[in-house]
Amino acid sequence: MDRTTYDIVVVGGGAAGLRAAIAAAEADPALTIALVSKVYPMRSHTVSAEGGTAAVLRPYDNFDLHGFDTVKGSDYLADQDSVEFFVQKCPEEIIRLEHWGCPWSRDADGKVSQRAFGGMSVKRTVFAADKVGFHILHALFQTTMKFENIHRFDEWYVSEIIREGGAAAGVVAIDLRKGEMARITSKAVVLATGGCGRIYEFTTNGFIKTGDGMGLAYRAGVPLKDMEFVQFHPTALPGTGILITEAARGEGGYLINKDGERFLKRYVPEKMELGPRDILSRSIMTEIREGRAFDGPYGHYVGLDLRHLGEETIERKLPMVRELAEKYVGIDPVKELIPVRPGQHYIMGGVHTNARGETGLPGLYAVGETACVSINGANRLGSNSLSECLVFGASTGLAAAAYARKKDWPSGAAARETFAREETRVFDGLLGQERGDETVAGVRREMQQLMERQVGIYRDEAGLSAACAQLGKLRARFSKVGVADKDRVYNTELTSVLELDFMLDVAAAIAHSALARQESRGAHSRTDFPKRDDERFLKHTLAHRADGAPRIEYAPVTITKWQPAARVY
Ligand code: FUM
Repeated sequence: MDRTTYDIVVVGGGAAGLRAAIAAAEADPALTIALVSKVYPMRSHTVSAEGGTAAVLRPYDNFDLHGFDTVKGSDYLADQDSVEFFVQKCPEEIIRLEHWGCPWSRDADGKVSQRAFGGMSVKRTVFAADKVGFHILHALFQTTMKFENIHRFDEWYVSEIIREGGAAAGVVAIDLRKGEMARITSKAVVLATGGCGRIYEFTTNGFIKTGDGMGLAYRAGVPLKDMEFVQFHPTALPGTGILITEAARGEGGYLINKDGERFLKRYVPEKMELGPRDILSRSIMTEIREGRAFDGPYGHYVGLDLRHLGEETIERKLPMVRELAEKYVGIDPVKELIPVRPGQHYIMGGVHTNARGETGLPGLYAVGETACVSINGANRLGSNSLSECLVFGASTGLAAAAYARKKDWPSGAAARETFAREETRVFDGLLGQERGDETVAGVRREMQQLMERQVGIYRDEAGLSAACAQLGKLRARFSKVGVADKDRVYNTELTSVLELDFMLDVAAAIAHSALARQESRGAHSRTDFPKRDDERFLKHTLAHRADGAPRIEYAPVTITKWQPAARVY
């Protein structure tokens, strides 16, 4: 098969993509929806989400408080109209998930439990023990199966967006199992491929998070917004980067240095372990730099102490934390400290969209971590991300459905042309290139180490300028990357080349956006510009793809209720 036609193509089978597909399928059973994913949907990175998903459900909480926490957490860069929409929609999504079979943990009175999370004023995070992503993904995946108008293309890799008459008109994708390329013509395309954590060396992200959706939109002429804001989660396991959920602190865990001190009293005394992630990650880095961290086979780390919680609580609320600690570092958190250090976890930036997932290219939508609405601004609060996938997954699916119902079918001419071009580029060009000195693993490793060292938690002009220059050189070297495996079937080396191509674009957008933002805000911490500068930089960055360096522009931030103020915890 080299051609097929659907009303909507959803690219990505994680929480955001599945939720968008369900919303569109429910909106109109006559619409046909292709769900294209490079992995089987239950292997999407959502499955590894652990700690929970935020929503106002209790009388002690309210929308204004959730909104304010989110805006303050964002260091006032979030668009407040989108935040208001988001917080109002979260509760209905949690209840809907429950009806679709998600087994939320419950209190003794039968009510859905809520736990504390960093930067949230009250217990607002709904959970299913510490396997929240698995349960949400499972509930969504099984719900998609009820809809005959959702057709799955599992293990298909999208390499290009088809455009016709100034609008998105489908995708070209490789059926990885068959090693064949195909064109899927459509009226609308929804990008929901998750984030791009694999650009970094030490990350909580799975191997599949390579920024494909961001790269696809960027190449189609849509800007990437606020890419300089990269989130480092304070507690990743040294060596693997596996996430130790914030829920461990939400349930009362302590962070301690090698002197046995709860060092956060010097950085966020009011919030301690429940401070926001940007501040906690910087605090841990300071402990490391000032010699107060433990030293281990994978470098310096601090200790996460759960011992005082007791075995019963750990088993009931944090069973996966115990399992991960036992399996990956050989310690039992009931009796010992878990070694942790900050690791790349999430990107606040992404494809420039509004709250309906619309981009500047008609018919092209983006949602979830792929998108930047923005509700997260310069720093996302833990547990807002799964809710974001649900709320904006629904709004984006509905918007794409409404658009597709009105839009005429594309003629197919652009699809044929794009398909022919992609076949030549991918199979003759990339796959045809003989393996020489440059390998995909070699260029990727250098990019990851560069991003880690120069575009990490702390940044400065010298490091960022050097990173931008070096990324330009890596882009040139990429053109010489050869592929040793010439087979087309399940050619993971070829897929890695396509992924690296996107990652290099996305990495350049991050580094150049970071260089241009001469202030510190949220997760973007410039040692040469240590203060927030609202006068010059209370604005969104837009990175446009261009020959050579990205072109940087800016767009205003929407302020409704919460005037920018000092961000003190
Ligand atoms: O720590 C965690 O469980 C992560 C949650 C999140 O990123 O929202």
